[in-house]
Amino acid sequence: MTYVVTENCIKCKYMDCVEVCPVDCFYEGANMLVIHPDECIDCGVCEPECPAEAIKPDTEPGLEKWLELNAEYAKSWPNITVKKEPPVDSKEWDGKAGKLEKFDPEPGTGD
Ligand code: SF4
Ligand code: F3S
Repeated sequence: MTYVVTENCIKCKYMDCVEVCPVDCFYEGANMLVIHPDECIDCGVCEPECPAEAIKPDTEPGLEKWLELNAEYAKSWPNITVKKEPPVDSKEWDGKAGKLEKFDPEPGTGD
């Protein structure tokens, strides 16, 4: 199994998660982060750190799409290990539905 970053990360991108990961397996896109499923050691430490509650274990039902998305983008996005300044409008996007449709996680430019 692995932990996965899900929809509520999009545009919230708080980045508290990257500071606690013992194996540095977070990768940064323009609007969200993803976890590399082959590098995650399932420690679960990041899950409670996310203020947006966007990190879930892939054992939860219905997360297949997000597992696929995490695996795909982790291949090409840059690794992130240090928290940066979150977007100024993070809080406005917290809990909004349909973020994946509105904001394609690509191009993954990072900064
Ligand atoms: Fe990193 Fe542990 Fe979270 Fe996996 S579960 S991404 S290893 S902090
Ligand atoms: Fe995203 Fe939560 Fe990390 S919003 S960047 S998964 S702390």
